[in-house]
Amino acid sequence: MEAKQSPLLDTVGVGDLVLVDPLSEESLLENLKERFKHKEIYTYIGNVVISVNPYQPLPIYSPQAVEEYRNCSFYALKPHIYAIADDAYRSLRDRDRDQCILITGESGAGKTEASKQVMSYVAAVCGKGEQVNQVKEQLLQSNPVLEAFGNAKTIRNDNSSRFGKYMDVEFDFKGEPLGGVISNYLLEKSRVVRHIKGERNFHIFYQLLDGGSDQLLKDLKLERDCRRYGYLSRDDHSLPGVDDAANFRAIQDAMRVIGFSAAEVRALLEVTAVVLKLGNVPLSSQFHASGMESCEIQDPRALREICQLIGLEEVVLEQALCSRTVEAKKEKVVMTLSSAQGSYGRDALAKNIYSRLFDWLVNRINQSIKVDSNERRKVMGVLDIYGFEIFQDNSFEQFVINYCNEKLQQVFILMTLREEQEEYVREGIQWTPVKFFDNSIICSLIEQSNGGILAMLDEECLRPGTVSDLSFLAKLNQMFAAHEHYESRTTQNNKRISDPSLTDSCFRIHHYAGKVTYNVSGFVEKNNDLLFRDLSQAMWKARHELLRSLFPEGDPQKASLRRPPTAGFQFKASVATLMKNLYAKNPNYIRCIKPNDSKQAGVFTDALVQMQVRYLGLLENVRVRRAGYAYRQAYQPCLERYKMLCKQTWPHWKGSARDGVQVLLSNLPVPPTELAYGRTKIFIRTPRTLFDLEERRRQRVSELAALIQALYRGWKCRTRYLLMRKSQILISAWFRGHAQRHRYQQTRMSVILIQAYIRGWKSRMLLRELKHQQRRSRASAIISAHWKGYRTRKEYRKYFRSGASAMLANFIYRRLVQKFFLRLQKNLPPMVVTDRSWPAAPYKFLANTNEELKKIFYLWKCKKYRERLMPERKALLQDKLCASELFKDKKTLYAQSVPQPFQGEYLGLQKNPKYRALQTAAGGKLVLADNVRKVNRANGKTVPRLFLLTKEHIILADPKAAQPKTVLSLSNVQSVSVTRFSDGFFVLHLRESSAVGTKGDFLLVSDHLIELVTKLHQTLLETTAEGLDLHVADKFCTQFNKGSVAIQVVETEKKGAGPICKKKGSHRMEVLVH
Ligand SMILES: Nc1ncnc2c1ncn2[C@@H]1O[C@H](COP(=O)(O)OP(=O)(O)O)[C@@H](O)[C@H]1O
Ligand SMILES: [Mg+2]
Repeated sequence: MEAKQSPLLDTVGVGDLVLVDPLSEESLLENLKERFKHKEIYTYIGNVVISVNPYQPLPIYSPQAVEEYRNCSFYALKPHIYAIADDAYRSLRDRDRDQCILITGESGAGKTEASKQVMSYVAAVCGKGEQVNQVKEQLLQSNPVLEAFGNAKTIRNDNSSRFGKYMDVEFDFKGEPLGGVISNYLLEKSRVVRHIKGERNFHIFYQLLDGGSDQLLKDLKLERDCRRYGYLSRDDHSLPGVDDAANFRAIQDAMRVIGFSAAEVRALLEVTAVVLKLGNVPLSSQFHASGMESCEIQDPRALREICQLIGLEEVVLEQALCSRTVEAKKEKVVMTLSSAQGSYGRDALAKNIYSRLFDWLVNRINQSIKVDSNERRKVMGVLDIYGFEIFQDNSFEQFVINYCNEKLQQVFILMTLREEQEEYVREGIQWTPVKFFDNSIICSLIEQSNGGILAMLDEECLRPGTVSDLSFLAKLNQMFAAHEHYESRTTQNNKRISDPSLTDSCFRIHHYAGKVTYNVSGFVEKNNDLLFRDLSQAMWKARHELLRSLFPEGDPQKASLRRPPTAGFQFKASVATLMKNLYAKNPNYIRCIKPNDSKQAGVFTDALVQMQVRYLGLLENVRVRRAGYAYRQAYQPCLERYKMLCKQTWPHWKGSARDGVQVLLSNLPVPPTELAYGRTKIFIRTPRTLFDLEERRRQRVSELAALIQALYRGWKCRTRYLLMRKSQILISAWFRGHAQRHRYQQTRMSVILIQAYIRGWKSRMLLRELKHQQRRSRASAIISAHWKGYRTRKEYRKYFRSGASAMLANFIYRRLVQKFFLRLQKNLPPMVVTDRSWPAAPYKFLANTNEELKKIFYLWKCKKYRERLMPERKALLQDKLCASELFKDKKTLYAQSVPQPFQGEYLGLQKNPKYRALQTAAGGKLVLADNVRKVNRANGKTVPRLFLLTKEHIILADPKAAQPKTVLSLSNVQSVSVTRFSDGFFVLHLRESSAVGTKGDFLLVSDHLIELVTKLHQTLLETTAEGLDLHVADKFCTQFNKGSVAIQVVETEKKGAGPICKKKGSHRMEVLVH
C-alpha cells in the first residue's frame, strides 16, 4: 500500500527501472516506451537519470517545478532532471563534495538541452543577490555565444554541438556561484570549408549575414545573400522555427553581459568575415612552358577586401596563398603551388583561423567568468560532449569523437559497474558478480601509448619519407591482425570473411556502442593539422590585433623547427585531463536516448532505442543496482551523520565507529536484510531505507534545532531579563536617590526660610524693644536736664546781672558784622561802572545794610569814574545826557542815536572853500552844521538845505549857492515839534512877531535830529537861560502865512528814505512815518 504511493511506482510504468519486474530487456524497453508515450521522458536507474528526447516542448520546466524539486529528496517526486541537479547541488553544498554531471548519448539525444536545464536549475536555486546574479548571467549567457560559433545544423540535429564542452562552475562555501571555467574539445573545423547537403556551416555565419545591420555588413565588406559565399551551402539555408537575425541580436547582448567590449565584438566579427571571404578567393591553375603548374588569383576583389579588413598588403597574402617556401639544406626555395594545393592551403587557413578564433572566444569568456578569490571553492562540472557518431563515411573526426565517448563509457563502467562490484568484494560483502561489458580493451586499442591506433598515427606522421594514409592502414592491419575489436579488409581476408561493406581504405572498430567503419583517407593530414608556415607568417604580419594574436608561430623570431603536437596527441591529452578531473568528482549521470532518427515527437523506434539501451549497458546497470546496495558510506561519516538518532551514540560515541553504527542502526527499526556491514563501510540496500534514515535525521535535527533554539532563546531571555533587572534596579536606585535628594533639598529650603522668618521676627522685636528703651532713656535724660536746668536757673536767677543777655547778644552781633565786613573787603566787585554786581548778605538781618552798601559803592565808583573823565569827553557825555533828558522814552529815534557820537560839523565848512560865505555868516560861533531837507509848505515835497546853528542864529542856506537863505535869530524860535517815531521830521515853530515868522513855521527833516534838537536846546539854554519848548506828539498845528495847517503823523509799514509829507487840502498835511 505504502509502496504504491511512491512517485516512482505511482506513475506510468515504473519511475525506477530497478523496480521493473520481471527484469528483461523487453520489459525495460516496454517500460521506457510506455512512459515516453505518456510524455514521461525521465526514468531512473537508482541515481542515474535516463532521458528520452521528446522532440517537443514539455511543460515540466516551469519555475513552479523548480520550487517543487528544490530541497526535496531524490526519490520523493516523479523522476526529473531537476532531481539529479538538486541532489548534486545539495551534495556539493551540504556534504562538501565536488560534483560532475556527465551527460552522454548520441548526437541529437538531448545532451545540450539537458545541460542547459541542469544549469538553469542550479542558477535558480543557488542564492540571490546582485553579484551572484551577475555571475549567473555571465555563466548562462556564455552558452548562446558558444552555440553560435560552435553549433551547426546536421542531419540529426538542427542545433548540433560541433565541439565538446566541459564547464566547471565554482561555488563558495554557502553554495553561491563565484564563476567558472570552460574547456572545449576538438571543434569540427572541417565544417568551415565543407559540409554535406542538408547540413549547414556554423550558425554564426548565417546569423551575421541575416542579423547584421546594413552598416555592419558594409564595414565588414559582406553581402547579405548567403548564396554568394562559397563556404555556405548554396541552397536554402533557413531553418524552420529558427530566427537567425534574432539570435544574432541575442548573442550580441550576451557578449555584452559577459563583458566583451564593443571593440572586441567588432574584431571577432571581422575575423569571422575574413573566414567567410576566404572561401571566395578563387584560385585557378596556369601552365607554364616548362609544364609546371602554378596557381593564381583570378579575381583579386575578395583578396583585396580581406587585406583591407585585416590590414595586410595584398601581395603578402597572395604570395602566401599561391606559393610555398621550402627550406632545403639551409636554403630557402620558393615553390609555386598547383591550384589544388593553393585551394587546400586556403581552406586550411580558413579552418585554422576559425578554430583558433573559437579557442580565443572560449578563453575570453573564461577571463570574464574566472574566479579571482583564493577562497576554497566547490566545483560542479557539467560535461556536454558530442555523442557517439556513426555515419556512412566516418573519418578522423568521428574516430576521435567516438574515442572520447568510449572513454566516458569507461568512466561510467568503472564508477558504476566495476568499481561497485569490486568494492563489495573488497569490503567482504557477499556478492554474486554481474557480467558486464568492459570497454577498457577498446580504449587501449585506441590510446595505448605504445602500439595504440593514435600512437601509430603519430608515428606515421613523424616518420621521414613518403607518408600516406594507406601505409598507416597497412601498419594497423599488421599490428591488430588478431585484435577482436579491430577489423579491416586484410584481417577479414585472413579470416576468410567476405564483407563488401568494408573497402580497402577502411578499418572498423567494434565500439561499445556499435561497429564503426572509418575511412583512412585524410587521417594523416588531419592528424598533422599543418598550416603552411607562409600562411601563418602572413597572418602574423597583419595589423589586425586579434587575428595576429591567433598566429603566434608566425612571428619569425619565435619560429621553431619543432613540429607542433599532432591533433590526435592533443586530443588524447585533453581527454586524459578531463578523465582525471571527472574521477576526482562525484559523478551524476544523465544518459540521453534518441527515440527516432527523424526528430519527430511521439515516435519511438524500438530498434533504435534497443540498440542504445544495449550499448549504454542499462540492463547491467539495473542488475548491479538490484543486486547491490543503493548506498554506502564509511563508518565514521555515517556515525557523524546519524548519531543523533540513538541515545547511546548521541552526543558522543566512545567506541569504534563501526560499533557505533551497529548500535545506532540496531536501535532503529531497520530490517537487518537492508544492511550489510563491510570492512570500512556500511551498505544500505534500498534507497527507501536511506530516505527513512534521512527523514528521521531531518526530524531529529529539527527537534534538536528546536531544542537548541529553545535553550538559546531561554538563555537569551534570561540574560536579557537579568540585565534588564540589573538595569532596572540601578535606574530605580538612581531615581530614588534623586527624588530623596530633591525632597531633602526642598525641606531644607523650607526650614531655612521658616528659621529666617522667625529670627527676623525675633530680631525686630528686640530692636523695637531696644529702640523703645533708648527713647525712654533719652526722654528721661532730657526731662531731667530740663528739670535740673529749671531748678538751677530758679536757684541761680538771683545771682545773674540784668543786662547779661543783651551784652551777649551784642557781642554775637558784633562778631557776625565783623566777619561780614571782613569778607566783603576780600570780595569787593571790580571798579567797572557798568558792573552792578554785589555779594549777597550772609544773614537776613544784614540785608538792608548790604543793599545800602551796594548803592554807596556804586555811587563812589561813578564818582571815581567821573573824576577820571577828560573835559571834551565830559562835554560830550553832557550833550548825550541832555539828549536823554529830552528824548528818552519819548521818541523811538533816541535809542538809535545813543551810540552815535555828536559831531556838530557834518559839512566840513573849514575845509571846503565853497562854504566861506557861510563861515563868515557863522562868525566863529558855529555850534552845528548839517544837511537838512525842507518840506515845501505848499505841496509837501522836500528840498535840500544847509542848516547851520550858531550861538545866535539858525541859518538855512541853499546847498548849491552856499549862500544863507534864511537867517533866524534864536530868540524867534518858539518851540519845536517832533513825532514819537524814528523819523527825522521836526517843525520849527516861530514866534509870530519875528520877521521870518510871517512866512510861517519851518518843516524840516534832519538825519541827526536828536543832536540837532539837543544842541538847539543847549544853545537856547546858554543864550536865553531858557530851554527849548519841545513837543513830542502825533498831531500838531503849524502856522503858515496862509493860516494854520494841522499836521497829522501817520505810521506806515512802508520803508523809505524819510518821512513823506502829503498835503491834504489847504489846512491839513499828513506825514507818513515809520
Ligand atoms: N527535454 C527536451 N524537451 C524538448 N525538446 C528537446 C529536449 N531535449 C532535446 N530536445 C530537442 O532535441 C534537439 C536536439 O537536442 P540537443 O540537446 O541539441 O542534442 P545533442 O546535444 O545531444 O546533440 C533539440 O534541439 C530539441 O529540439
Ligand atoms: Mg549537443
